[in-house]
Amino acid sequence: MTAFDTLHVAPGGALTGRVRVPGDKSISHRSVMLGALAEGTTEVRDCLMGEDVRATMAAFRALGVEIEEREGGRLILVHGRGLRGLQTPRQVLDLGNSGTSIRLMSGIIAGSSLAATLTGDSSLRRRPMRRVTEPLGAMGAVIRTAANGTPPLEVEAGHALHGIDYVLPVASAQVKSAILLAGLFANGTTAVTEPAPTRDHTERMLAGFGVTVVRDGARAGVAGGQSLKATKITVPADISSAAFFLVGASIAPGSELVLEGVGVNPTRTGVIDILGLMGADITAENAREVGGEPVADLRVKYAKLRGIDVPPALVPLAIDEFPALFIAAAAAEGVTTVREAEELRHKESDRIATMAAGLETLGVPVETRPDGIRITGGPYGGGRIDSHGDHRIAMSFAIAALRAGAAIDIADCANIATSFPDFVPLARGAGLGIAP
Ligand code: S3P
Repeated sequence: MTAFDTLHVAPGGALTGRVRVPGDKSISHRSVMLGALAEGTTEVRDCLMGEDVRATMAAFRALGVEIEEREGGRLILVHGRGLRGLQTPRQVLDLGNSGTSIRLMSGIIAGSSLAATLTGDSSLRRRPMRRVTEPLGAMGAVIRTAANGTPPLEVEAGHALHGIDYVLPVASAQVKSAILLAGLFANGTTAVTEPAPTRDHTERMLAGFGVTVVRDGARAGVAGGQSLKATKITVPADISSAAFFLVGASIAPGSELVLEGVGVNPTRTGVIDILGLMGADITAENAREVGGEPVADLRVKYAKLRGIDVPPALVPLAIDEFPALFIAAAAAEGVTTVREAEELRHKESDRIATMAAGLETLGVPVETRPDGIRITGGPYGGGRIDSHGDHRIAMSFAIAALRAGAAIDIADCANIATSFPDFVPLARGAGLGIAP
């Protein structure tokens, strides 16, 4: 667990050796959720035991699901209650910092026709929820939000759902998943068409639980009433956590690092493609498939990076990796521009504004736009950064120190524990001069 609020990172150094970052957050959440809805006991190996996934586990326990932790947390047993087995919770469901938990669970709870209130911390209570409550409302659910469409979400009991054919206005795997999960409970077929490909872990994992998911290009559909059968899942290492090391090793001369067992689902590998366009030296070794998800060891060596215009088609495929990619841009030669990335403003913090403020502190020339940023790379300094409680901002500025001219201090870092509880010891072991 991260027991610190401020991090001090010495400038310079290189990343070497072999690192296994923790389990994929998106896949870990879904393992618990689908395991809870299945018949039988689902075994989940290498589940991420960060605060976000723990919030999902706590919420399902409050819904009557027994979840056991064995082998010091390396093995989780989810005792499924079947599609119709969840119970009305006695308490408010507090999903902490986790957008994936609140959005996907709103679909499951609306489908289960249970009365429940879902809320979270001050960051989650600022995030937009109409993107899920509107389509779920179109399916027949009644869900109230705060006046500006933010949590708490109050789901009313007693409303049966019917299938819809929904075209997503924004590319969002959370919204797609919330609707498909609600569709499991609905009369008829529920289908979602996305404007651009987003992570497809829900579709893949549903298939692993024996549910027929009909996928036709940008459209995915499920017929309601299908039962889920318990299964065994091994969670790959999270490419979103690996991203800090991919960028860190790419910008720090003398680095050569292997990241073991990383999930390389093509809907998640935008960070590798973008770094590749910038001139990074990343190779995938030992490619294999683990439980329906592609996995590889990623070898990354220092390379001279150059600024690029990030192709907008890659934005949804790297959506969580932009804080780290902005550090790569700061260390690159020349200008990097990102556009059509307005979604970055609706994450755990406004990641365009938070990153721009931090980069300016380091002396990096930046210009922001409503939907993106322009970063001029070159030598940069140190300073004190405020991560605004955003885990990925904190970790991005930590790895920025590898190329900084002076130390970087980062405030408000406790939320690193939401996605990467062991970031500090792992990064230190690989060569980063990081200390609480
Ligand atoms: C996630 C989807 C993405 C991503 C988030 C996890 C998921 O959110 O940013 O960290 O697990 O489905 P959006 O769907 O809002 O883009």
